[in-house]
Amino acid sequence: MAFPPSFLDDLNARNPIEDVVGQYVALTRRGSNYFGLCPFHNEKTASFSVAPDKGIYYCFGCHKGGGAVNFIMEVENLEYPDAVRFLAKRVGMEVPEDQEYRSAYRKQERLRNLCKEAARYFHEQLNSPAGQPGREYIAKRGLTRATVTKFGIGFAPDGWHGLLDTMTKKGYTKEELLDADLVIKSPKGNYYDKFRNRLMFPIIDIRGSIIGFGGRVMDDSKPKYLNTSETSIFNKRKNLFAMNFAKKSTAGRIILTEGYLDAIALYQYGFDCAVASLGTALTTEQAQLLGKYTGEVVLTYDNDAAGQNATRRAITILERADLKIKILRMQGAKDPDEFLKKFGPDKFRVLLDRSENQAEYQLLSLQNKYDLSFDDQKVAFVKEAASLISTFANAVEREVYGARAANAAGVTADTMKLEIDRAFRRRKAAERKKQERADLDVVGQLQPRERGLHYSNPSSAAAEEMLLAQLLKDPTLLPTVNLLPQQFSSPLLGKVFGLMLQLQERGRAIALGALSGDLTAEEMNHLTAVSRKKDVLVSETAIRDCAGKIRDEYEKSLGTDEAALLARQARLKAKKGYGG
Ligand code: GTP
Ligand code: MN
Repeated sequence: MAFPPSFLDDLNARNPIEDVVGQYVALTRRGSNYFGLCPFHNEKTASFSVAPDKGIYYCFGCHKGGGAVNFIMEVENLEYPDAVRFLAKRVGMEVPEDQEYRSAYRKQERLRNLCKEAARYFHEQLNSPAGQPGREYIAKRGLTRATVTKFGIGFAPDGWHGLLDTMTKKGYTKEELLDADLVIKSPKGNYYDKFRNRLMFPIIDIRGSIIGFGGRVMDDSKPKYLNTSETSIFNKRKNLFAMNFAKKSTAGRIILTEGYLDAIALYQYGFDCAVASLGTALTTEQAQLLGKYTGEVVLTYDNDAAGQNATRRAITILERADLKIKILRMQGAKDPDEFLKKFGPDKFRVLLDRSENQAEYQLLSLQNKYDLSFDDQKVAFVKEAASLISTFANAVEREVYGARAANAAGVTADTMKLEIDRAFRRRKAAERKKQERADLDVVGQLQPRERGLHYSNPSSAAAEEMLLAQLLKDPTLLPTVNLLPQQFSSPLLGKVFGLMLQLQERGRAIALGALSGDLTAEEMNHLTAVSRKKDVLVSETAIRDCAGKIRDEYEKSLGTDEAALLARQARLKAKKGYGG
């Protein structure tokens, strides 16, 4: 979706960054900037800054940054075009939509409404005579009236076209029902309800719209669950069941469960911060979503081998999202739902407060893997434990868990420490080698266009960053630079330079915020960091030096006629752009 540039300039002008951010973060003025507590990570001292003159925000703690549109994308969890619409609505501006986009958006709005109507239908069915089996099952699972209402639980009767008929009467087409994955089309071309004789759980996104369903059988038949497949409004990777409730919790943590019914049971017993993934392994996107609302995630996956495997995988993913992780181990019950019913919420709260951090969890899992009454198993355990403990970043942790592992294996703490140090050095050496290999490979990587954020030529990239930082501070100097985007060693920085040239050509303001639509969130964060560099002093000489360095590095990388050719093109272009 490309919005007209003049509209975007207007939008940014009418949504001053300090006002937009100010609605979410309490800001205090310091000089020409504002500071506050970062809304994107947990912190106690303010490292989140807003620079009104540049129209940007930047967090020195988590390194997120960008313009007003980026801020809304992050904080409201919206895609770029929807963030633009959000800001337009905020100041009462009309959005010039292109035809194609308008109709796609309208289609999705209709599907969201359709899902809402369908949920209402399922809920009504539950309370009708046809809903008897559903009500019985709900009673058997111990769900209260309040819970059923809160989660909008419903019932799909045992027929072929109850929903189909009701929704088409309301004006939805069969194609729309198919697009929402509520009906199925047979090879012969007949349509029939997808969910039949199942208890229905609406899946609600973070903004409160129903986007899909999970339907559970009420006996032991298979498949246990039928879930909505991917649709234009339902993305399993990006949503979590009950996140719409958990995001409002004041518990300070989020409990991650495997099953819808675990999250629901937790809620019913007073834990309003439980969510479930949507029938797949935890994804990076879901971890990021969790990170927006909490700093700590407690894993309470099922107490079987599959659940424990899923726990290990989830730990890796949550670690990458910088979340504090705890693991709750249950005994005597297979999942939180069963545990709560058997032992009650007080016992669960004890487990919750006692839940292990991941270091403990990993060490205990390792201990369980070995039979430490055999000497050879002890040796293997010490080796593996040392290698695990050597990955802990914190020295105190290494010491504490080292001593614990030593104790378990019946060796002295000193012996364990030697093993850990050895494992540490071994890993460092391996990492160094890997890095050297990657560095050597740089030449081979120069050709592909998409190289991500990795700098293949750090010394050129340093000059490129310095150049862009200066130009973002003082865009009037852009015409003095005779470089082409292709001459940058970093594809991202080159792309940004190209975008700045485009803005200049179109007579638009050259500012970070104007680039929101063309850069990914990661790219924007990185670029904002570049523009916030402390040691940047703008001068024409410095700009000339940077450009010279970039050109030199480029020519070195090519060393051929091609470099000379590009250099000549750049000079010609600069002459045209500058002198007239
Ligand atoms: P109970 O067994 O009643 O406790 O249900 P539960 O909601 O706790 O689900 P369970 O722990 O068995 O499974 C975890 C999650 O995996 C469910 O919530 C579903 O999202 C998903 N799931 C389970 N069974 C199936 C299945 O047969 N098909 C699909 N697609 N997903 C399933
Ligand atoms: Mn379960």
